Amino acid sequence: MDLHVLNHPLVSHKVTYLRDENTSSSMFRQLTEELVTLLAYEATRDVAVERVNVTTPLTTTDGVHIAKPKPLIVPVLRAGLGMLEGMTKLLPSAEVGFLGIKRNEETLEPFTYAERLPDELDNRQVFIIDPMLATGGTLNDSIDYVFERGAKSVTAICLIGAPEGAENVRKHLEAKWPDKQVSVYLAAMDEKLNDIGYIVPGLGDAGDRLYGTAE
Ligand code: URA
Repeated sequence: MDLHVLNHPLVSHKVTYLRDENTSSSMFRQLTEELVTLLAYEATRDVAVERVNVTTPLTTTDGVHIAKPKPLIVPVLRAGLGMLEGMTKLLPSAEVGFLGIKRNEETLEPFTYAERLPDELDNRQVFIIDPMLATGGTLNDSIDYVFERGAKSVTAICLIGAPEGAENVRKHLEAKWPDKQVSVYLAAMDEKLNDIGYIVPGLGDAGDRLYGTAE
């Protein structure tokens, strides 16, 4: 697994506002969208392209288009939805699938309550978006779903990660998918998880910050 933590003053500036408990939901959504676009720019460096010929007003020349099969973006519901707009702005031709994974607040174990993905993902590059890489359980489950359907590679884009979660994902991949390409992009790697599975210092519950407290 390749882990990338973006080191850029604009990203740190936006993450600082995101963390602030006084940031409103509407500002939180706007900052999330802006951060995702910055993260996605880095995270799509290896997106597959095919050579094309293009006619300009003056001549013809070589260029590239995003290759088929198109990349698939998978927001993990509910908080991942808040990242979708920023992602599709950059990759408007991508397809979108959905995974609903929730964690049991006592055991912290994730369970899947909704799934809407193409049956076949052969050779697809999949971008999983979920704001918080906390225990890593949700990301492990999401990765298993798409690799079991034949995805070629996974790029996970998260806003904030915890070292425990990143380590859990690394171990899971080594044990279960040692030959698959997985990259993880974070805007910040935080200090730790607390004993109820929240990232510290973190930003609280990302779904609540985006959408309010309704379940
Ligand atoms: N999910 C969140 O929304 N926040 C955390 O800190 C951890 C998991």
